[in-house]
Amino acid sequence: MRNFVATGEKPTDGSEVICNDCENGQKLYISGGNKLNGEIELQGAKNSVLPIIAATVLMKSQVVLKGCPKLSDSFGACRILTHLGAKCAREGDTIIIDASGISVDEIPASLMKKMRSSIIFLGAVLGRLGTCRVSMPGGCEIGERPIDMHVHALEAMGVDIKTQNGIMVCDAPSGVTGAQVTLYFPSVGATENIILAAVLADGTTEIKGAAKEPEIVDLANFLIAAGAKISGAGSDKIVIHGVQTLHEVEYRVMPDRIAAATYLAAAAATRGSIVLRNASFGDLGLICDVFKQTGCKLYAYDNIVAINAESKNLAAPDEIRTGPFPAFPTDAQPIMLAYSVTLPGTTVFYETVFENRFMHVPELRKLGADVKLFDNKTAVVTGKKRMSGAALDSPDLRGGAALVIGALAADGNSTVSNLQHIDRGYENFAENLRKLGGNVYRK
Ligand code: EPZ
Repeated sequence: MRNFVATGEKPTDGSEVICNDCENGQKLYISGGNKLNGEIELQGAKNSVLPIIAATVLMKSQVVLKGCPKLSDSFGACRILTHLGAKCAREGDTIIIDASGISVDEIPASLMKKMRSSIIFLGAVLGRLGTCRVSMPGGCEIGERPIDMHVHALEAMGVDIKTQNGIMVCDAPSGVTGAQVTLYFPSVGATENIILAAVLADGTTEIKGAAKEPEIVDLANFLIAAGAKISGAGSDKIVIHGVQTLHEVEYRVMPDRIAAATYLAAAAATRGSIVLRNASFGDLGLICDVFKQTGCKLYAYDNIVAINAESKNLAAPDEIRTGPFPAFPTDAQPIMLAYSVTLPGTTVFYETVFENRFMHVPELRKLGADVKLFDNKTAVVTGKKRMSGAALDSPDLRGGAALVIGALAADGNSTVSNLQHIDRGYENFAENLRKLGGNVYRK
């Protein structure tokens, strides 16, 4: 067994530096106008590695996860793991986990708040220990983020849940049992929590109305590789037959499709041409369709995706409506909106998933963007030929990335602050943009 260091200690690979940096109030300094050109390696998927790290709570053998991006969210997930009694260490993009020693069933508010989607640990801790106490996760910048579907499903699986002073006290006195569960909305997190609670449960669980995102498929593939019995992942009906135990596994996390969309949009907004290695064209779905609709050329072969946006005749798409997969992903809405600001014509964005996901609009207006908001669910973008640099504040994770795209396309100098949002989901963001010819520095 490799030597482990508790991830709570200061890691030697710099992953904690990201957190310290944002505590120092660092900013991105961007000089816009450069066409992005070149090639980078795409990070592993944040929204896949987080539920997979939570899934290791179910395992008493060693797990080796490859392709794990160095993000404050993945660092936060490992902090929760070590708090619960696991050991984990990072070696480059690989995290090695030994969860055999897990015995703690409580996740304190300090750790729950540090990683927005920490509720994903609830199902796994219940599946492993039969009890769990977590503070209510609460909302975030983009919405209230309720967990009613998580709670109702776990109650159907024999879990008694009481909330006292903001703490959810969850107890499955006779262990978690399989159940038939129907979701009224294909919630990604609820689907993942139910799968994690069901893997070691007594009996069979059937999820109807399940989320179909590629990250759900990646989580299921990881668990199946460790011996779980799961079928239907990627469809709206998933069946999990409980097993006694899971075995050792080594697994590579899927590429990050939203990070891919971000770099492709940065290239398109600057009329450049880039190549992404370790990218999965199949996961990008409607995202690439929209780039093509605007006149970009897209190429895909093996695990490479490339875009050429040098055409002089690019034009705005008519409308983009977000929704659960396979619809256009809500996470790519701010990113595509920042690109559409540079295109001649008008695009209507309908945000149907989160209630407050246009906070990047007032910031993009500082660059000169022409965007009108209606009831905070609809944005009408009229493309502008030129924008000019400004001082910008990241409102949230994907909104922050959208501001960087806008600043890269604008003339002159911009700054982007509140980098703690961006650090949650983008590894080496400034370095990657510099590799592509962007004039972007963090200090
Ligand atoms: C996941 O969040 C992602 N996060 C989000 O990515 C992503 O935007 C979202 O799925 C939708 O694709 C991770 O995977 C870590 P949901 P999640 O449950 O699971 C409502 C990013 O930028 N809802 O599918 O929290 C909820 O309020 C982040 O990387 C309930 O009403 O999303 C929202 O309106 C942002 N009750 C909608 O469903 C519930 O019990 C979708 O939420 C659960 C959800």
